[in-house]
Amino acid sequence: MSKKIFAANWKLQKNPLQAKEFCEIFRAQVVPQTYFWDHKEIFIFPQNFSLDSVIHAMKDTPVFTGPQNIHTEKSGAFTGENSAVFAKEMGAKTILLGHSERRQYFGETHEALNKKVKLCQELDLLPVFCIGETLAEREKGETEKVCFEQITQALNGIDKSKRIVVAYEPVWAIGTGKVATVEQVKEIHEKLYHKMADLNFSNFQLLYGGSVKPDNAKQLLEVPHVDGFLIGGASLEVDSFMKICSQ
Ligand code: PGA
Repeated sequence: MSKKIFAANWKLQKNPLQAKEFCEIFRAQVVPQTYFWDHKEIFIFPQNFSLDSVIHAMKDTPVFTGPQNIHTEKSGAFTGENSAVFAKEMGAKTILLGHSERRQYFGETHEALNKKVKLCQELDLLPVFCIGETLAEREKGETEKVCFEQITQALNGIDKSKRIVVAYEPVWAIGTGKVATVEQVKEIHEKLYHKMADLNFSNFQLLYGGSVKPDNAKQLLEVPHVDGFLIGGASLEVDSFMKICSQ
């Protein structure tokens, strides 16, 4: 059985000092626990200015960290963009890709995401690739269609033997407190698992994200094919993040 993954998405929060403080407290609590690391993986996606702080504070621990987005190109005349190569040189091990806020507010397309996933693979950075439907899409019965399309388009032509993490996050559950029901998560994760297997992906994990909190984490983690969580709001405080990671 693969380890459960707990991934913190800090979005546009936590300056370098706040990131360092969080990591020092978290580190002191979990690093000595062998049992914890035998069963869990921790990913932290800070805002870019705080990435260096997290990398330093988590040095010599199994924690994976990396940016919440990268540019499609490694370098060049792309003012304001962030290079995956530089992230890797800094010590990043993973990249969050295709979060619905990026799709919604920054026009992230399937084509751009496909290039980004390929770039991650080329650089040996683990992509944590987000998918999920809006409320309107769910109400039209299009959840499966939307998620499958996000997968087939953005993961087209990538190396299927390399590890990839797919985070299913219904857009209507992100930051709203409206968590998907166990039945809803069960239904879509089952379909996603089989879709990934049918597409011949051989090393993938599926996360659930969207209003995961200490009080709903346990039941969601018991759903088949839920290999962990992508956590926004509840990952900002060590206490609530720890409670979720301790499930
Ligand atoms: P939330 O965010 O846990 O605050 O709903 C999840 C996410 O956006 O990844």
